Amino acid sequence: MNSRPELHTLLRRDEIETTVKRLAAEISEDYQGKSPLLIGILKGSFVFMADLVLLLDFPLEVEFIRLSSYSRSRQSSGRIKMVQGLCSEIRGRDVLVIEDIVDTGLTTSFLLDYLRRKEPASLKLCSLTDKPSRRGVPITIDYLGFTVPNKFIVGYGLDLDEKFRNLPEIYVLEDKCQIK
Ligand code: IMP
Ligand code: MG
Repeated sequence: MNSRPELHTLLRRDEIETTVKRLAAEISEDYQGKSPLLIGILKGSFVFMADLVLLLDFPLEVEFIRLSSYSRSRQSSGRIKMVQGLCSEIRGRDVLVIEDIVDTGLTTSFLLDYLRRKEPASLKLCSLTDKPSRRGVPITIDYLGFTVPNKFIVGYGLDLDEKFRNLPEIYVLEDKCQIK
């Protein structure tokens, strides 16, 4: 028996490609003449970030931070730990954070507070997806790909217990799609 849960396509390849191109165009326009540092939040943003940077043809640098919310399940525990921090100085730099999803907002809010204390010249957020129905803290997303429903999504970097990150489209997990 194959125990793989039922997956239903939410965002197709062509929709993702069109949206990543749109985000790259918006970012390119705003960062003309600058040399920003893009900080990808591991692990979920790695596929999105790779596709995005290939479409940015101005000087930039790439960094990664790995956060963990003390939980391997579908619920953010709200207790955030930095598993891998920054290797670059960000004081006085234009910093653009790249996220896969903003759900309750706890992870992003923790991260933005941490980065703001390091006094970058500017700090903006780009997220592939936004699940606003579960937001607990206000978050401004400067560059947003898709608003998604209150369902658990996987693929294109997003995981369930470390699986499904390699799927090329974004799917809804149909077995337990309503998160309480
Ligand atoms: P937040 O702190 O509740 O905003 O959630 C942050 C993290 O929870 C994200 O970076 C994801 O790793 C994970 N997450 C939240 N919703 C989903 C989802 O629908 N699919 C996969 N991961 C999710
Ligand atoms: Mg995750």
